[in-house]
Amino acid sequence: MARLAPSVLSADFARLAEQLRACEEAGADLIHVDVMDGRFVPNISLGVVVVEALKRSTRLFLDVHLMIVEPERHIEAFAKAGADGITIHAEATPHAHRAIEQIHSLGKQAGLAINPATPLDFFKPVMPALDLALLMAVNPGFGGQKFIPESLARLQDLKSLRDSLNPRCLIEVDGGINAATAAQVVAAGADILVAGTAVFSGDIKSNIDTLRSSLASSR
Ligand code: DX5
Ligand code: ZN
Repeated sequence: MARLAPSVLSADFARLAEQLRACEEAGADLIHVDVMDGRFVPNISLGVVVVEALKRSTRLFLDVHLMIVEPERHIEAFAKAGADGITIHAEATPHAHRAIEQIHSLGKQAGLAINPATPLDFFKPVMPALDLALLMAVNPGFGGQKFIPESLARLQDLKSLRDSLNPRCLIEVDGGINAATAAQVVAAGADILVAGTAVFSGDIKSNIDTLRSSLASSR
């Protein structure tokens, strides 16, 4: 069964600990943390101190998605703050391979993300080194956007690439996941689904139950 990663970007930040507990109790597998710098993406979200607070509030794996330029300048700080996995964007640095090595040297799992307009080829040279390949299904920067349908074909191609170059690398899909798209992305090869709005808007437990049942029906 695919894993579910609620994105705290859409959580109520005044009740973060409580909402994390609700995610844990509803059976979320990991917590996705969207870090935005106002440069790589138009929006500014959260930083190191919030990751520290999240670490104190949950035992779930913290899957930190860095949407920031020159991620190598901040990787160590996020690792020390309690990130379990750190994902950088291929478009955000000319030194993706070095950044991946840096993440591993800090004892963390390393991911590479690409935007909807970025060729899948960016994954090829680093695939053997990756723990996670993150395919954006919306343009990063905001929660609540519509899933870009072309992402499904890209996902199938990414799955073939992963299967041939590094079968232990997990494929994560981020953006526009809801009960309808969840089933489609799992059928196309996703191992981990990030969901913000679909988890945090309304009742967390029943939202996660709905997403889970759509995953089960897609198998
Ligand atoms: C978008 C972020 C996503 C976002 C997903 O830039 O990387 O993780 O929180 O939000 P939804 O699930 O609402 O599309
Ligand atoms: Zn994200």
